[in-house]
Amino acid sequence: MRCAQRVIGTIECTEPALSIRQGRSQESKKVNIRPIGPHFAAEVNGVQLADVGDDDFRRIEAAFYEHSVLVFHEQQISEDEHVAFSRRFGELEMTMVNDPSGGGGPVNHIGNVDAHGRLIPMDDARMVYNSGNALWHTDSSYKPVPAKASLLFAEHVPPSGGETEFACMRAAYDTLSVEERETIEHLVVEHDLAYSRSKIDPEMMSEAFRTEVPPQRQAMVRVIPETGRKTFYTGAHAARIVGWPEDRSRALIDRLNALATQPQFVYRHQWAVNDLVMWDNRCCLHRGRPWDGARFPRVMRRTTIAGAGPTVVPSRVAETERT
Ligand code: OGA
Ligand code: MN
Repeated sequence: MRCAQRVIGTIECTEPALSIRQGRSQESKKVNIRPIGPHFAAEVNGVQLADVGDDDFRRIEAAFYEHSVLVFHEQQISEDEHVAFSRRFGELEMTMVNDPSGGGGPVNHIGNVDAHGRLIPMDDARMVYNSGNALWHTDSSYKPVPAKASLLFAEHVPPSGGETEFACMRAAYDTLSVEERETIEHLVVEHDLAYSRSKIDPEMMSEAFRTEVPPQRQAMVRVIPETGRKTFYTGAHAARIVGWPEDRSRALIDRLNALATQPQFVYRHQWAVNDLVMWDNRCCLHRGRPWDGARFPRVMRRTTIAGAGPTVVPSRVAETERT
């Protein structure tokens, strides 16, 4: 049983409920939050996410809103515990039925190893689909209610490559001029998985899959309620600005994506086995970096916390369409 191996303070864990309760006050003193990136991203030490007391959970939650990306090393966390910890932040998204790494549950399995432990060839349809993660994106912005946060855990990592990079859209927003802020303030953007995946391969998504994820409208500018900070909200799934001509629309989305992904707004995470990284999809972009997948396994699992509601109200769409 997992718990027998865990030591909390000086108390050997033999009976889960009791030892977790006794461990709490000692745990709180140990949680340490250290900024590691430019403008955002922090490392959290001194906590095992499988055993977080309420006080520590509140510290982690506050750090998450402040830093947007949190890195936890050396986590002993089973899939069920990963789901249970994620669930404390809110409802979880279910993976899409047609997603090759999903299949209708709370956990995305993202990796190049099949059920028999064999490497999946890089040209296999599952790998080609997941290569969409190499584009700067924010998770499930193509859903009616886009994701709040994602929690990605590393089971196997390659000796080099395979990093995940994060970009801070809210820090990039802060650099916009007053005129630029006014221009984008009320825009509505259509996010479309078929659009972003077509950049990899126009034939990739089946008709059934396209039907499962029709384009969705999202606000271009969002206010993150916990901090009151504004951010723009773009990424690879941002296909077109409602009511704008195609070329102007593309130019603005491309400009904002390029702005946020400049080195001064990017944190690159070099994975070690048992790292768990969580990020705020409302104000961060991310992308996976290549590695030698023909030789080395990279196996990750991810949970996704659902957002609070739609980002755009219908009246706003109507106004935009008139302009
Ligand atoms: C994801 C994702 C990138 C990676 O899990 O949402 O985009 O580096 N992953 O695996
Ligand atoms: Mn992703």
